[in-house]
Amino acid sequence: MPNDEEEQERLDLMHHLFLLSYDGELYHAPLPKTIGRALDIGCGTGIWVMDFADMHPEAKVIGTDLSAIQSGYVPQNVHFEVDDAEEDWQYSQPFDYIHIRGMGGAIANWQRLLQQAFDNLVPGGWVELVEFDAWASTDDNSLPESSAYYQFQTLLGKASELFGKPVNVAKYFRKFVETAGFTNIGEDNRKVPLSPWPTTRKERNLGNYMQMAMSESLEPYALALFTKMLNWDNIMIQALLAGARNDLKNMDYHIYTTW
Ligand SMILES: C[S@@+](CC[C@H](N)C(=O)[O-])C[C@H]1O[C@@H](n2cnc3c(N)ncnc32)[C@H](O)[C@@H]1O
Repeated sequence: MPNDEEEQERLDLMHHLFLLSYDGELYHAPLPKTIGRALDIGCGTGIWVMDFADMHPEAKVIGTDLSAIQSGYVPQNVHFEVDDAEEDWQYSQPFDYIHIRGMGGAIANWQRLLQQAFDNLVPGGWVELVEFDAWASTDDNSLPESSAYYQFQTLLGKASELFGKPVNVAKYFRKFVETAGFTNIGEDNRKVPLSPWPTTRKERNLGNYMQMAMSESLEPYALALFTKMLNWDNIMIQALLAGARNDLKNMDYHIYTTW
């Protein structure tokens, strides 16, 4: 089972992969040059918060998470709080910008979360949701349904739904934000290879890192959910994960996820 340090390294690696895919851009909302207050929900190690605070030294940037895994040494304009984003939000002042990344599988009621985001923004403020499908797609049906990876992702989706916090939620985001009252909504869907099968250099590079990140992420994704929701024992889980890791090395499988 991964320890806290490995979990933090995994989160920071994902942050760098987002930057690699987005050509180094930390965010896409059309923010003005200077902003007042920004909030990052479920900030993990706080790495995005620190980078954003560096870019916007004029802003007060708050990062919240269930776990206090953020660094104690932070710039003056950063503040981390332990907070459950599914509880009632208690912020004394509204925000200009709210960032929510990689929270699929962590939230039971997205509609409520986004309603709270809407209610805690200044008029004209922005929310930005960054999410990836926990699903390996292909354009050429090259991943067989009988493969371990396909079975893994099917079971993961099912187990997360049984748990009440589905992993594959990005497809509902537009409906959620519209219902919450947001207008001027933009979408950016990107295919990100899960292994280094593409031929272009940039994609292959990204695929290499994704393969590494995914190999390390399979177990933290699966362990608790498969044990609790599917009654699997550790031997069954490890056997499936070993097969799924092998599938990530198979360059005949042209798998990608959508961010
Ligand atoms: C996959 S990590 C993403 C971290 C960060 N947003 C990033 O992109 O690097 C999900 C984070 O959400 C946090 N989390 C899960 N449920 C939460 C909740 N109800 N309220 C606040 N944070 C939560 C977890 O502790 C974890 O740090």
